[in-house]
Amino acid sequence: MVWGTIFWLRKTVSSPMFESFPLAPPDSILGLAAAFEKDPRPGKINLTVGVFKDEQGRTPILESVRQAEERIFKTQKTKSYLPIEGAPEFTKSVSRLVLGEDFDFSRVAAAHTPGGTGALRAGADTLARNFPGLRVWLSNPTWANHGSVFQAAGMETLVYTYLNGGKTGLDFDGMIQDLESKGRPRDVVLLHACCHNPTGIDPTLEQWERISSLMAEKKMIPFLDFAYQGFGDGIVEDTKPLHIVLRKNPEVVVCSSFSKNFGLYSERVGALLMIGADGSGTEALMSQVRASIRCNYSNPPRHGEAIVVTILGDNDLSALWRSEVDAMRTRISSMRDSFIRGMSSMGRDFGFLATQKGMFSYTGLNAMQADWLKQERAIYIVGTGRINVAGLSPDTMTTLCMAVDEACKL
Ligand SMILES: Cc1ncc(COP(=O)(O)O)c(C=O)c1O
Repeated sequence: MVWGTIFWLRKTVSSPMFESFPLAPPDSILGLAAAFEKDPRPGKINLTVGVFKDEQGRTPILESVRQAEERIFKTQKTKSYLPIEGAPEFTKSVSRLVLGEDFDFSRVAAAHTPGGTGALRAGADTLARNFPGLRVWLSNPTWANHGSVFQAAGMETLVYTYLNGGKTGLDFDGMIQDLESKGRPRDVVLLHACCHNPTGIDPTLEQWERISSLMAEKKMIPFLDFAYQGFGDGIVEDTKPLHIVLRKNPEVVVCSSFSKNFGLYSERVGALLMIGADGSGTEALMSQVRASIRCNYSNPPRHGEAIVVTILGDNDLSALWRSEVDAMRTRISSMRDSFIRGMSSMGRDFGFLATQKGMFSYTGLNAMQADWLKQERAIYIVGTGRINVAGLSPDTMTTLCMAVDEACKL
Protein backbone atom coordinates (compact mmCIF):
# COMPACT_ATOMS: atom_id res chain seq x y z
CA MET A 1 0.00 0.00 0.00
CA VAL A 2 2.76 2.43 1.06
CA TRP A 3 4.91 1.40 -1.91
CA GLY A 4 1.91 1.76 -4.20
CA THR A 5 1.29 5.33 -2.97
CA ILE A 6 4.97 6.24 -3.36
CA PHE A 7 5.00 4.83 -6.91
CA TRP A 8 1.83 6.77 -7.80
CA LEU A 9 3.27 9.98 -6.33
CA ARG A 10 6.56 9.59 -8.24
CA LYS A 11 4.71 8.90 -11.45
CA THR A 12 2.44 11.94 -10.99
CA VAL A 13 5.33 14.25 -10.13
CA SER A 14 7.59 13.02 -12.92
CA SER A 15 5.02 12.90 -15.76
CA PRO A 16 5.15 16.12 -17.79
CA MET A 17 2.33 18.62 -17.59
CA PHE A 18 3.17 21.43 -20.02
CA GLU A 19 5.03 19.13 -22.38
CA SER A 20 1.98 16.92 -22.70
CA PHE A 21 -0.03 19.66 -24.42
CA PRO A 22 -1.01 18.74 -28.00
CA LEU A 23 0.29 20.84 -30.87
CA ALA A 24 -1.99 23.82 -31.52
CA PRO A 25 -2.91 24.29 -35.19
CA PRO A 26 -0.40 26.60 -36.93
CA ASP A 27 -1.48 29.89 -38.49
CA SER A 28 -1.69 28.89 -42.13
CA ILE A 29 -0.71 32.29 -43.59
CA LEU A 30 2.15 32.99 -41.18
CA GLY A 31 3.38 29.42 -41.80
CA LEU A 32 3.59 30.16 -45.54
CA ALA A 33 5.43 33.40 -44.84
CA ALA A 34 7.95 31.49 -42.72
CA ALA A 35 8.44 28.96 -45.55
CA PHE A 36 9.00 31.87 -47.95
CA GLU A 37 11.76 33.29 -45.72
CA LYS A 38 13.55 29.94 -45.78
CA ASP A 39 13.19 29.47 -49.55
CA PRO A 40 16.69 29.99 -51.07
CA ARG A 41 15.47 30.46 -54.67
CA PRO A 42 16.29 33.87 -56.21
CA GLY A 43 13.36 35.86 -57.59
CA LYS A 44 10.86 34.29 -55.17
CA ILE A 45 7.62 36.25 -54.76
CA ASN A 46 5.61 36.52 -51.52
CA LEU A 47 1.92 37.37 -51.95
CA THR A 48 0.75 35.89 -48.64
CA VAL A 49 0.80 38.10 -45.54
CA GLY A 50 -1.33 41.25 -45.55
CA VAL A 51 1.18 44.05 -45.35
CA PHE A 52 1.55 46.90 -47.83
CA LYS A 53 4.70 46.83 -49.93
CA ASP A 54 6.17 49.52 -52.16
CA GLU A 55 7.60 48.87 -55.64
CA GLN A 56 10.89 47.77 -54.08
CA GLY A 57 9.08 45.20 -51.95
CA ARG A 58 9.59 47.12 -48.70
CA THR A 59 7.00 47.86 -46.05
CA PRO A 60 8.02 51.48 -45.48
CA ILE A 61 7.60 53.76 -42.48
CA LEU A 62 5.33 56.56 -43.72
CA GLU A 63 6.95 60.01 -43.93
CA SER A 64 4.11 61.45 -41.81
CA VAL A 65 4.90 58.83 -39.17
CA ARG A 66 8.62 59.65 -39.21
CA GLN A 67 7.93 63.36 -38.79
CA ALA A 68 5.46 62.67 -35.96
CA GLU A 69 8.05 60.46 -34.23
CA GLU A 70 10.64 63.25 -34.40
CA ARG A 71 8.22 65.61 -32.68
CA ILE A 72 7.32 63.00 -30.06
CA PHE A 73 11.00 62.32 -29.37
CA LYS A 74 11.56 66.02 -28.66
CA THR A 75 8.43 66.66 -26.62
CA GLN A 76 7.29 63.46 -24.87
CA LYS A 77 7.79 63.73 -21.11
CA THR A 78 6.76 60.38 -19.70
CA LYS A 79 6.22 56.73 -20.43
CA SER A 80 3.84 56.32 -17.51
CA TYR A 81 0.61 54.30 -17.88
CA LEU A 82 -2.20 55.61 -20.04
CA PRO A 83 -5.85 55.42 -18.95
CA ILE A 84 -7.43 51.99 -19.58
CA GLU A 85 -9.18 53.32 -22.68
CA GLY A 86 -6.17 55.30 -23.91
CA ALA A 87 -5.62 59.06 -24.01
CA PRO A 88 -8.73 61.22 -24.58
CA GLU A 89 -7.00 63.04 -27.49
CA PHE A 90 -6.66 59.68 -29.23
CA THR A 91 -10.22 58.47 -28.72
CA LYS A 92 -11.57 61.89 -29.77
CA SER A 93 -9.50 62.19 -32.93
CA VAL A 94 -10.06 58.62 -34.14
CA SER A 95 -13.80 58.86 -33.41
CA ARG A 96 -13.87 61.91 -35.72
CA LEU A 97 -11.81 60.10 -38.35
CA VAL A 98 -14.12 57.07 -38.37
CA LEU A 99 -17.52 58.62 -37.68
CA GLY A 100 -17.08 62.08 -39.23
CA GLU A 101 -17.00 65.54 -37.62
CA ASP A 102 -20.77 65.86 -37.22
CA PHE A 103 -21.46 62.68 -35.26
CA ASP A 104 -23.03 62.87 -31.80
CA PHE A 105 -19.98 61.68 -29.85
CA SER A 106 -21.90 61.53 -26.56
CA ARG A 107 -23.18 58.18 -27.89
CA VAL A 108 -19.70 56.70 -28.33
CA ALA A 109 -17.75 54.60 -25.82
CA ALA A 110 -14.29 54.63 -27.42
CA ALA A 111 -11.04 52.93 -26.47
CA HIS A 112 -7.56 52.63 -27.92
CA THR A 113 -6.83 48.93 -28.33
CA PRO A 114 -3.70 47.03 -29.39
CA GLY A 115 -4.50 46.88 -33.10
CA GLY A 116 -7.76 45.88 -34.73
CA THR A 117 -7.44 42.44 -33.15
CA GLY A 118 -7.48 44.02 -29.69
CA ALA A 119 -10.59 45.99 -30.66
CA LEU A 120 -12.38 42.86 -31.89
CA ARG A 121 -11.59 41.03 -28.68
CA ALA A 122 -12.49 43.92 -26.35
CA GLY A 123 -15.76 44.45 -28.26
CA ALA A 124 -16.59 40.75 -28.22
CA ASP A 125 -15.75 40.48 -24.49
CA THR A 126 -17.89 43.51 -23.65
CA LEU A 127 -20.91 42.06 -25.45
CA ALA A 128 -20.37 38.51 -24.18
CA ARG A 129 -19.98 39.53 -20.51
CA ASN A 130 -23.38 41.26 -20.69
CA PHE A 131 -25.30 38.86 -22.94
CA PRO A 132 -24.45 35.23 -22.10
CA GLY A 133 -24.96 32.71 -24.89
CA LEU A 134 -24.33 35.25 -27.65
CA ARG A 135 -23.95 34.03 -31.26
CA VAL A 136 -21.91 35.71 -34.00
CA TRP A 137 -22.32 35.38 -37.77
CA LEU A 138 -19.14 35.47 -39.86
CA SER A 139 -18.92 35.66 -43.64
CA ASN A 140 -17.74 32.50 -45.39
CA PRO A 141 -14.84 33.07 -45.93
CA THR A 142 -13.55 35.66 -43.51
CA TRP A 143 -10.24 36.79 -41.95
CA ALA A 144 -8.71 33.62 -40.48
CA ASN A 145 -8.55 35.02 -36.93
CA HIS A 146 -12.20 36.12 -36.58
CA GLY A 147 -13.50 32.72 -35.49
CA SER A 148 -10.81 32.27 -32.83
CA VAL A 149 -11.29 35.76 -31.40
CA PHE A 150 -15.05 35.43 -30.97
CA GLN A 151 -14.78 31.86 -29.68
CA ALA A 152 -12.19 32.98 -27.14
CA ALA A 153 -14.75 35.53 -25.93
CA GLY A 154 -17.18 32.63 -25.40
CA MET A 155 -19.42 33.21 -28.42
CA GLU A 156 -20.84 30.60 -30.73
CA THR A 157 -19.70 31.22 -34.32
CA LEU A 158 -21.95 30.66 -37.35
CA VAL A 159 -21.29 31.43 -41.01
CA TYR A 160 -23.32 33.21 -43.67
CA THR A 161 -22.88 32.70 -47.42
CA TYR A 162 -20.66 35.32 -49.04
CA LEU A 163 -19.19 34.05 -52.31
CA ASN A 164 -20.80 32.79 -55.49
CA GLY A 165 -19.99 29.30 -56.77
CA GLY A 166 -17.10 30.46 -58.96
CA LYS A 167 -15.66 32.50 -56.05
CA THR A 168 -15.56 35.51 -58.34
CA GLY A 169 -18.28 37.68 -56.80
CA LEU A 170 -20.74 38.18 -53.96
CA ASP A 171 -23.69 35.82 -53.53
CA PHE A 172 -25.81 38.63 -52.11
CA ASP A 173 -29.09 36.71 -52.20
CA GLY A 174 -27.44 33.81 -50.36
CA MET A 175 -26.05 36.17 -47.74
CA ILE A 176 -29.41 37.86 -47.12
CA GLN A 177 -31.27 34.57 -47.13
CA ASP A 178 -28.97 33.04 -44.50
CA LEU A 179 -29.23 36.00 -42.17
CA GLU A 180 -32.96 36.47 -42.75
CA SER A 181 -33.94 32.85 -42.26
CA LYS A 182 -31.50 31.82 -39.52
CA GLY A 183 -30.60 35.07 -37.71
CA ARG A 184 -32.15 35.81 -34.33
CA PRO A 185 -32.63 39.06 -32.41
CA ARG A 186 -29.40 40.03 -30.65
CA ASP A 187 -27.24 37.85 -32.90
CA VAL A 188 -24.01 39.66 -33.70
CA VAL A 189 -23.23 40.02 -37.43
CA LEU A 190 -19.59 40.63 -38.31
CA LEU A 191 -19.37 42.78 -41.45
CA HIS A 192 -16.19 44.00 -43.16
CA ALA A 193 -16.76 47.75 -43.47
CA CYS A 194 -14.65 47.85 -46.67
CA CYS A 195 -12.00 45.81 -48.51
CA HIS A 196 -13.30 42.39 -47.45
CA ASN A 197 -10.48 40.11 -46.31
CA PRO A 198 -9.76 37.63 -47.90
CA THR A 199 -11.81 38.22 -51.06
CA GLY A 200 -11.61 41.95 -51.87
CA ILE A 201 -15.32 41.66 -52.74
CA ASP A 202 -17.52 44.30 -51.08
CA PRO A 203 -21.28 44.80 -51.27
CA THR A 204 -22.41 47.82 -53.33
CA LEU A 205 -23.90 50.81 -51.47
CA GLU A 206 -27.39 49.66 -52.52
CA GLN A 207 -26.65 46.24 -51.07
CA TRP A 208 -25.43 47.89 -47.87
CA GLU A 209 -28.84 49.59 -47.61
CA ARG A 210 -30.50 46.19 -47.71
CA ILE A 211 -28.05 44.74 -45.16
CA SER A 212 -28.68 47.71 -42.88
CA SER A 213 -32.48 47.31 -43.11
CA LEU A 214 -32.20 43.60 -42.41
CA MET A 215 -30.07 44.18 -39.29
CA ALA A 216 -32.67 46.67 -38.04
CA GLU A 217 -35.70 44.48 -38.88
CA LYS A 218 -34.18 41.42 -37.19
CA LYS A 219 -32.75 43.47 -34.30
CA MET A 220 -29.34 41.95 -34.85
CA ILE A 221 -26.13 43.69 -33.69
CA PRO A 222 -23.97 45.06 -36.55
CA PHE A 223 -20.29 44.59 -35.68
CA LEU A 224 -18.12 46.29 -38.29
CA ASP A 225 -14.49 45.37 -38.75
CA PHE A 226 -12.84 48.45 -40.28
CA ALA A 227 -9.24 47.34 -40.83
CA TYR A 228 -8.62 49.03 -44.19
CA GLN A 229 -10.05 52.57 -44.02
CA GLY A 230 -8.63 54.45 -47.01
CA PHE A 231 -7.63 51.37 -49.02
CA GLY A 232 -10.98 50.99 -50.83
CA ASP A 233 -12.18 54.28 -52.33
CA GLY A 234 -10.70 56.83 -49.90
CA ILE A 235 -10.50 57.70 -46.21
CA VAL A 236 -13.90 59.44 -46.16
CA GLU A 237 -15.51 57.42 -48.97
CA ASP A 238 -14.84 54.16 -47.14
CA THR A 239 -17.01 55.28 -44.20
CA LYS A 240 -20.17 55.30 -46.39
CA PRO A 241 -21.23 51.70 -45.59
CA LEU A 242 -20.78 52.40 -41.89
CA HIS A 243 -23.06 55.45 -42.11
CA ILE A 244 -25.64 53.47 -44.05
CA VAL A 245 -25.67 50.92 -41.21
CA LEU A 246 -25.80 53.67 -38.56
CA ARG A 247 -28.80 55.38 -40.17
CA LYS A 248 -31.08 52.43 -39.42
CA ASN A 249 -29.28 50.78 -36.52
CA PRO A 250 -28.79 53.00 -33.47
CA GLU A 251 -26.44 50.54 -31.76
CA VAL A 252 -23.35 49.48 -33.67
CA VAL A 253 -19.86 48.23 -32.81
CA VAL A 254 -16.90 49.43 -34.92
CA CYS A 255 -13.38 48.01 -34.70
CA SER A 256 -10.72 50.10 -36.42
CA SER A 257 -7.17 49.13 -37.16
CA PHE A 258 -4.42 51.64 -37.91
CA SER A 259 -1.93 48.91 -38.82
CA LYS A 260 -2.39 49.28 -42.57
CA ASN A 261 -3.44 52.87 -43.17
CA PHE A 262 -0.73 54.32 -40.87
CA GLY A 263 1.70 51.45 -41.53
CA LEU A 264 1.88 50.97 -37.74
CA TYR A 265 1.66 47.17 -37.82
CA SER A 266 4.00 46.46 -34.91
CA GLU A 267 3.04 49.47 -32.79
CA ARG A 268 -0.39 47.92 -32.18
CA VAL A 269 -2.84 50.78 -32.66
CA GLY A 270 -6.54 50.26 -33.15
CA ALA A 271 -9.79 51.52 -31.69
CA LEU A 272 -13.02 50.06 -30.38
CA LEU A 273 -16.04 52.34 -30.86
CA MET A 274 -19.21 51.07 -29.19
CA ILE A 275 -22.04 53.30 -30.28
CA GLY A 276 -25.19 53.50 -28.16
CA ALA A 277 -28.65 54.73 -29.11
CA ASP A 278 -28.85 58.15 -27.46
CA GLY A 279 -25.95 58.67 -25.09
CA SER A 280 -27.93 58.01 -21.91
CA GLY A 281 -25.96 54.81 -21.21
CA THR A 282 -22.53 55.77 -22.52
CA GLU A 283 -20.95 56.04 -19.08
CA ALA A 284 -22.07 52.54 -18.09
CA LEU A 285 -21.08 51.20 -21.53
CA MET A 286 -17.64 52.78 -21.14
CA SER A 287 -17.29 51.15 -17.71
CA GLN A 288 -18.00 47.76 -19.31
CA VAL A 289 -15.42 48.37 -22.05
CA ARG A 290 -12.88 49.34 -19.36
CA ALA A 291 -13.71 46.20 -17.34
CA SER A 292 -13.11 44.00 -20.43
CA ILE A 293 -9.76 45.65 -21.12
CA ARG A 294 -8.51 45.80 -17.52
CA CYS A 295 -8.49 42.02 -17.05
CA ASN A 296 -6.92 41.48 -20.46
CA TYR A 297 -3.99 43.82 -21.22
CA SER A 298 -4.81 46.48 -18.58
CA ASN A 299 -3.99 49.55 -20.68
CA PRO A 300 -2.72 50.27 -24.17
CA PRO A 301 0.81 50.98 -25.46
CA ARG A 302 1.72 54.65 -25.78
CA HIS A 303 3.99 55.08 -28.79
CA GLY A 304 1.67 54.24 -31.70
CA GLU A 305 -1.13 56.16 -30.09
CA ALA A 306 1.09 59.26 -29.79
CA ILE A 307 1.93 58.98 -33.50
CA VAL A 308 -1.73 58.87 -34.55
CA VAL A 309 -2.64 61.76 -32.21
CA THR A 310 0.27 63.87 -33.50
CA ILE A 311 -0.65 63.28 -37.15
CA LEU A 312 -4.40 63.77 -36.81
CA GLY A 313 -3.90 66.85 -34.61
CA ASP A 314 -1.74 68.73 -37.10
CA ASN A 315 -3.05 70.03 -40.43
CA ASP A 316 0.22 69.62 -42.34
CA LEU A 317 0.97 66.14 -41.03
CA SER A 318 -2.62 65.13 -41.58
CA ALA A 319 -2.51 66.31 -45.21
CA LEU A 320 0.77 64.45 -45.74
CA TRP A 321 -0.69 61.27 -44.19
CA ARG A 322 -3.82 61.50 -46.36
CA SER A 323 -1.69 61.83 -49.49
CA GLU A 324 0.36 58.79 -48.40
CA VAL A 325 -2.80 56.70 -47.92
CA ASP A 326 -3.99 57.84 -51.36
CA ALA A 327 -0.65 56.78 -52.85
CA MET A 328 -0.83 53.33 -51.22
CA ARG A 329 -4.38 52.82 -52.52
CA THR A 330 -3.45 53.98 -56.02
CA ARG A 331 -0.46 51.65 -56.14
CA ILE A 332 -2.57 48.67 -55.11
CA SER A 333 -5.29 49.34 -57.66
CA SER A 334 -2.77 49.93 -60.43
CA MET A 335 -1.16 46.55 -59.63
CA ARG A 336 -4.58 44.89 -59.75
CA ASP A 337 -5.30 46.48 -63.15
CA SER A 338 -1.88 45.53 -64.42
CA PHE A 339 -2.42 41.88 -63.38
CA ILE A 340 -5.78 41.83 -65.19
CA ARG A 341 -4.12 43.27 -68.33
CA GLY A 342 -1.20 40.84 -68.07
CA MET A 343 -3.55 37.85 -67.87
CA SER A 344 -5.68 39.23 -70.68
CA SER A 345 -2.60 39.43 -72.92
CA MET A 346 -2.29 35.67 -72.36
CA GLY A 347 -5.89 35.13 -73.35
CA ARG A 348 -7.18 34.71 -69.81
CA ASP A 349 -10.07 36.72 -68.43
CA PHE A 350 -9.48 37.92 -64.87
CA GLY A 351 -11.78 40.91 -65.37
CA PHE A 352 -13.82 39.92 -62.30
CA LEU A 353 -10.93 41.26 -60.20
CA ALA A 354 -11.62 44.81 -61.41
CA THR A 355 -14.39 45.45 -58.88
CA GLN A 356 -12.41 43.99 -55.96
CA LYS A 357 -11.01 46.47 -53.47
CA GLY A 358 -8.22 46.73 -50.95
CA MET A 359 -5.12 44.74 -50.38
CA PHE A 360 -6.48 41.31 -51.27
CA SER A 361 -7.93 39.56 -54.28
CA TYR A 362 -9.44 36.16 -54.69
CA THR A 363 -7.94 34.90 -57.93
CA GLY A 364 -10.10 31.81 -58.31
CA LEU A 365 -6.94 29.63 -58.19
CA ASN A 366 -7.34 26.46 -56.12
CA ALA A 367 -5.14 24.87 -53.43
CA MET A 368 -3.43 22.55 -55.92
CA GLN A 369 -2.56 25.45 -58.24
CA ALA A 370 -1.33 27.51 -55.27
CA ASP A 371 0.90 24.64 -54.23
CA TRP A 372 2.25 24.26 -57.77
CA LEU A 373 3.10 27.97 -57.86
CA LYS A 374 5.03 27.56 -54.62
CA GLN A 375 6.86 24.34 -55.55
CA GLU A 376 7.61 25.09 -59.18
CA ARG A 377 7.84 28.88 -59.40
CA ALA A 378 8.66 30.04 -55.82
CA ILE A 379 5.50 32.16 -55.88
CA TYR A 380 3.72 32.06 -52.54
CA ILE A 381 -0.04 32.64 -52.46
CA VAL A 382 -2.60 31.43 -49.91
CA GLY A 383 -4.19 28.03 -50.69
CA THR A 384 -7.61 29.66 -51.07
CA GLY A 385 -6.29 31.58 -54.07
CA ARG A 386 -5.95 34.84 -52.12
CA ILE A 387 -3.13 37.13 -53.19
CA ASN A 388 -1.85 40.26 -51.50
CA VAL A 389 -2.05 42.63 -54.46
CA ALA A 390 0.22 45.06 -52.61
CA GLY A 391 2.97 42.43 -52.82
CA LEU A 392 3.15 42.87 -56.62
CA SER A 393 5.41 45.22 -58.53
CA PRO A 394 6.01 46.03 -62.22
CA ASP A 395 9.21 43.93 -62.01
CA THR A 396 7.44 40.78 -60.84
CA MET A 397 4.25 41.15 -62.88
CA THR A 398 5.31 39.28 -66.03
CA THR A 399 6.79 36.40 -64.02
CA LEU A 400 3.58 36.10 -62.02
CA CYS A 401 1.26 36.28 -65.03
CA MET A 402 3.25 33.64 -66.92
CA ALA A 403 3.23 31.34 -63.89
CA VAL A 404 -0.50 31.81 -63.26
CA ASP A 405 -1.15 31.08 -66.94
CA GLU A 406 0.71 27.80 -66.56
CA ALA A 407 -1.07 27.00 -63.28
CA CYS A 408 -4.41 27.52 -65.04
CA LYS A 409 -3.51 24.70 -67.44
CA LEU A 410 -3.17 22.17 -64.60
C1 LIG B 1 -10.16 41.99 -41.56
C2 LIG B 1 -9.13 42.22 -40.53
N1 LIG B 1 -9.49 42.53 -39.29
C3 LIG B 1 -8.60 42.77 -38.33
C4 LIG B 1 -7.25 42.68 -38.58
C5 LIG B 1 -6.29 42.89 -37.45
O1 LIG B 1 -5.58 44.03 -37.54
P1 LIG B 1 -4.37 44.35 -36.55
O2 LIG B 1 -3.14 43.85 -37.19
O3 LIG B 1 -4.43 45.83 -36.41
O4 LIG B 1 -4.65 43.67 -35.26
C6 LIG B 1 -6.81 42.35 -39.86
C7 LIG B 1 -5.39 42.22 -40.14
O5 LIG B 1 -4.94 41.71 -41.10
C8 LIG B 1 -7.77 42.12 -40.86
O6 LIG B 1 -7.43 41.80 -42.10
